[in-house]
Amino acid sequence: MFKPLEGSTPTTTVPFLMEGRAVQAQPGEMLATALLRAGVDRFRETPVSGSPRGPLCLMGVCFDCLVQVNGRPNVQACMTPVEAGMVVQWQRGARSLQGDT
Ligand code: FES
Repeated sequence: MFKPLEGSTPTTTVPFLMEGRAVQAQPGEMLATALLRAGVDRFRETPVSGSPRGPLCLMGVCFDCLVQVNGRPNVQACMTPVEAGMVVQWQRGARSLQGDT
């Protein structure tokens, strides 16, 4: 469903991990688009039912793209550029307002 525009294939990639799986991003790419292109459609689980959620707006409004990055919860994947070596995990349960759990 998601793919780069024709002629925009980068010569270098930025490696990171999603739930232990190696993923390659384009330099400067946002985390959400890199994950969607890699076939990841589950970014977080709802606190009550555990239903899966994924990016909806891709512009920082809906908060359905929350993930954990390097152990830090509540990271909006659509607003976060990929960095080499990032360790990304699903956001599980309710988000914390303090951002520390
Ligand atoms: S996709 Fe809506 S806030 Fe990230």
